[in-house]
Amino acid sequence: MAGGERIFVQAIRRYCAEHDIAVDVRASGWLIAMRKGARCRFAFGYDIGLNSAIAHRLANDKSATAEALEMAGVPCVPHHLFLNPSMGVHVTGADWRQGMLALLAQNPQGVVVKPNEGTSGRAVFKATNSDDLDRAVTEIFSSGLGLVIAPYVEIEDEVRVIVLDGKPMIVYRKERPSVVGDGMQTLRELASAAGQDRRLRELAARELNAIVPKGERRLLTWRHNLDAGAKPILLDEGEVRADCAKLAIDAANFIGITFASIDVVRVDGIWRVLEINSGVMMEGLGRLHPGLVQATYDAALDRIFETAH
Ligand SMILES: Nc1ncnc2c1ncn2[C@@H]1O[C@H](COP(=O)(O)OP(=O)(O)O)[C@@H](O)[C@H]1O
Ligand SMILES: [Mg+2]
Repeated sequence: MAGGERIFVQAIRRYCAEHDIAVDVRASGWLIAMRKGARCRFAFGYDIGLNSAIAHRLANDKSATAEALEMAGVPCVPHHLFLNPSMGVHVTGADWRQGMLALLAQNPQGVVVKPNEGTSGRAVFKATNSDDLDRAVTEIFSSGLGLVIAPYVEIEDEVRVIVLDGKPMIVYRKERPSVVGDGMQTLRELASAAGQDRRLRELAARELNAIVPKGERRLLTWRHNLDAGAKPILLDEGEVRADCAKLAIDAANFIGITFASIDVVRVDGIWRVLEINSGVMMEGLGRLHPGLVQATYDAALDRIFETAH
């Protein structure tokens, strides 16, 4: 079973083996007890228990993150919360749909609709008209979740900063899958040849069937999730890395989070926070840079065991 085990679980096993800590892995790795003498510490999901309950809740709630950062003047992408109308009109108000349509009207470039507590790009939709919006809203509310609506922004670059104790441990940009035209093949043919058929569902038939002019690069998805095919590219020391790290650390410090992965995006040349994740998931990165990922989890686990009494 170890081959199918998450890198997160493997990293904990390795750390514990080296530090004489007994591990008890349950629920296919979702719950892990780490025991050293009389002390027991838990990992749950991708959470190793370094963050306070309130920091964890703020981070995992996209609308709360955006509201909190706005208070601090930390640049971020605004996210408007809409609760599921099944909770009752006294909770959601009667005019929730008008509120959504107003956001759409204010953002002619479109809006992004996503679960308020989502991860990995699941159920993240772009809407440019009320039909798209209704489809997205129905889909997300069918899972019983609150949703957020953000203005669609043209992301020039998305960078993830893994922060531990106010320090940037890992900084990488997410490179979306793309193809380059040869003036002969359609986008569909180029994507198939690149083994990217899975991405084609997101693109309109008109785009897919058009021949891509020679030398022109076409992105295959607008989303930067590694699960959507993006590749992590570590950033070298330099201005971009420093700017992203500073912004991420400002955000982490303000919400009081110790260990987090923070996504920042460059829009019109300005970096702003897109989201904060309190669980630090490095499965995709760990396949490419196992040593770096292990070292980061090691440092975080050191904090857990040095502060335990
Ligand atoms: N407002 C937005 N404008 C443009 N692209 C967005 C916007 N919000 C999200 N995205 C894209 O969708 C991806 C997933 O959104 P994100 O908010 O990170 O949710 P998740 O927690 O599911 O990863 C991002 O990496 C980004 O590429
Ligand atoms: Mg994300």
